[in-house]
Amino acid sequence: MPRRAATPRASSDPRRTGVIDLVEVSKTFRTPGGEVHALDHVSLHVEPGEIFGIVGQSGAGKSTLIRTVNALEQPDSGTVTVAGATISELRGKELREARRRAGMIFQHFNLLSSRTALGNVELTLEIAGTGRGARRRRAQEILDLVGLADRADAYPAQLSGGQKQRVGIARALADNPRVLLSDEATSALDPETTRSVLDLIRRLSRELGLTVLLITHEMDVIKRICDSAALMEHGRIIENGAMEQLITTPGSRLAAALFELGELPPDRGHRIVDITFTKQTSSEPVIAKLARDQGIDVAILGAAIETIHGGTQTGRTRLEIPGSADEVERALTYLREQGLFVEVVR
Ligand SMILES: Nc1ncnc2c1ncn2[C@@H]1O[C@H](COP(=O)(O)OP(=O)(O)OP(=O)(O)O)[C@@H](O)[C@H]1O
Ligand SMILES: [Mg+2]
Repeated sequence: MPRRAATPRASSDPRRTGVIDLVEVSKTFRTPGGEVHALDHVSLHVEPGEIFGIVGQSGAGKSTLIRTVNALEQPDSGTVTVAGATISELRGKELREARRRAGMIFQHFNLLSSRTALGNVELTLEIAGTGRGARRRRAQEILDLVGLADRADAYPAQLSGGQKQRVGIARALADNPRVLLSDEATSALDPETTRSVLDLIRRLSRELGLTVLLITHEMDVIKRICDSAALMEHGRIIENGAMEQLITTPGSRLAAALFELGELPPDRGHRIVDITFTKQTSSEPVIAKLARDQGIDVAILGAAIETIHGGTQTGRTRLEIPGSADEVERALTYLREQGLFVEVVR
């Protein structure tokens, strides 16, 4: 099956307009210890309504990237366009207006402890200059949308982590932004609360046509809600694409992290391959048929099956194929003919 190479999207083509477009964005911090290239010619294209995840090690430049999207950080070079406005070129009032296109949520919620849930949500609208009555109505409406209508009068200290993040989401969305930015918004939450907050973000994205750019270190977050993902390292994007594409890209590090198959066993001279399958190409009958039709017995060394959001089942199975070079070749051909993506790992 033909596959596109890693970094398959034409993300640096400025003619393509998404909701978020970064073209060759660079940002260097000068510190007493020297220069830090936090962003090094980063190009990124996020489609309308897409949920896009960014992963990478600490210091990779993820937060700096997201901060260029809401103009908390100005790039040294390159352009950042959000919902049609090139925010990296705007100043003053125009910039403040453009900033309203993106709402942001944070790991530690950043709520004002002196204000109720409703008061926190209203804050966004106060800053936007919305009148008192409209402000209150909108804040109540959006609290209802995140399932917190009955806790409008509670203070942050009286709310659970999940509830606080729902307030954070309501606050971020109160002024009808086109984009929701999230910097590790579920990292302080337990797994179950994480799932419910992620499901809420996905629902809101669908209902409001919201585009989401999120940073996470949790692969489960990527699997659960992301349509596309990028891997950052040393200020660069080193992998980038739609999930279905990434998981079948040869040598993809994101795919390997998403489907952990463990260490390779000791070398016994046998060929080891990883096969990737989707719901259309389940692995088991194929492996059984390989033995029956081709007389080739393979050993299953590991399997990881994941349900990517939307219910698409995707998985990887690691097989050991004994036999002569001829037999191995025959097995590989057979697997590929069945529509499976086959990657030889040893
Ligand atoms: N205001 C700043 N001044 C100087 N250096 C900075 C500044 N902001 C970020 N950096 C540096 O830029 C690099 C990227 O930082 P950034 O916060 O974007 O990383 P990150 O990927 O978000 O990391 P983490 O996962 O730890 O949050 C780091 O080396 C960081 O120390
Ligand atoms: Mg960060």
